[in-house]
Amino acid sequence: MADQTPRNQRDARLRWREALADDLRRQNEQHLRRVLRPVESSQGAELVIEGRRYVQFCTNNYLGLANHPEVVDAAREAAIRWGVGASASRLVAGSMDLHHQLEQKLAAFKGTEAALLFPTGFMANLAMFTTFAGSGDRIVSDKLNHASLIDSARYSQAEHRIFPHRDLAKAQSLLARPLRPAGGTKPGGGEEPADDSPALSSPGVIADADGPGRKFLATDAVFSMDGDLADLPGLCDIAEANGALVVVDEAHATGVFGSRGSGLAEAQGVCGRVALSMGTLSKALGSVGGFVCGPREAIDMLVNKARTFIYTTALPPMCSAAGLAALAVIERQPHRRQRLLAMAAHVRQELEAMGFDCGESRSPIIPVMAGSAESALAASEQLRQRGLFVPAIRPPTVPAHTARLRISLMADHTDGHIEQLLQALKDLGSAGKLLHR
Ligand SMILES: Cc1ncc(COP(=O)(O)O)c(C=O)c1O
Repeated sequence: MADQTPRNQRDARLRWREALADDLRRQNEQHLRRVLRPVESSQGAELVIEGRRYVQFCTNNYLGLANHPEVVDAAREAAIRWGVGASASRLVAGSMDLHHQLEQKLAAFKGTEAALLFPTGFMANLAMFTTFAGSGDRIVSDKLNHASLIDSARYSQAEHRIFPHRDLAKAQSLLARPLRPAGGTKPGGGEEPADDSPALSSPGVIADADGPGRKFLATDAVFSMDGDLADLPGLCDIAEANGALVVVDEAHATGVFGSRGSGLAEAQGVCGRVALSMGTLSKALGSVGGFVCGPREAIDMLVNKARTFIYTTALPPMCSAAGLAALAVIERQPHRRQRLLAMAAHVRQELEAMGFDCGESRSPIIPVMAGSAESALAASEQLRQRGLFVPAIRPPTVPAHTARLRISLMADHTDGHIEQLLQALKDLGSAGKLLHR
């Protein structure tokens, strides 16, 4: 059939495609282009990609629960009983018994009054500040917080201030500044980098006609590209001294840290001092779906106001069933997280003894600094040739000149897998392919 598209439309599309192709070519030249590689196997410690078997060091399936038989069976049974998708938003007909059961279980696990599920962790984070913060409020965030927490602050109308990574003194000074008056922020919230620019409002201004503005202090628990940990007691201290509410993203800590495995707030003894805690089913819990835990009123407010909760289809019931089964395994089998953390300490120690720069990692996420995107890609490729899948992380995911290999470990890695990794990295190090401290 002849193409009926008007000529000017065809030309516009052609120019657009050419411009996109030019951008992609440039990304390629700068070693920054990303491509998708289909995985052709189940997701244990070994993966088949493009017909070749690799030991992988790039998963968030920290405890091996994504493919644990109990978790898989629970998901299968739920799909048979409830259907594959939820078919409606929670507020219409998508709020299934399994969602409520999992929310109760998550609240008990985290030691909060209530919890609310979202289709992803990204959406749970987006809900947080777009619901609770607005004009006249201030959000003070760590520079390396996850993109979803940053976007949440950006999409709120609050003033957004960013402190250098884990710099408590700077966070304290940003919290201590007087709030701007309500309506005084730029559209989009007025994001400001951490600097020493003068305070933006006169001292003592009350921010909101309905009451004083609120201050929030937001941090990841485990930083996803560096694997280092927030100092939650330190952050709680400065938040409390400045009347601020602490918001913690426990995405990589849930299931991994704490004697019950509930996260870093538990491990560092600050559960009762955190106002809102966010997590995801998509990492150690092996499924998909995000959640926010907090006081009853906050959760009820999310149900009423959070756009990423209201205007989307509910989490598939089988994901809730998988989440419930995963929590049961976490409760019964602490050895999974114990092995994971012991293995992470061993790998870090060995890599540091070889002289590599692994930053301040204290978790199963271990960066090995390479510097340029080109070096990181080359190192990743050489590991791939030795049957090891370790991703290169490049800007813009990490700051310029800090491209790295990002190792992430899982409880299912054997001692043999770890030895293979360490030997290959040692060889790469001797060949001068990676940065040393
Ligand atoms: C720190 C952090 N927060 C939130 C998320 C988002 O979670 P999800 O993958 O469930 O959307 C991620 C995922 O990469 C993350 O690393």
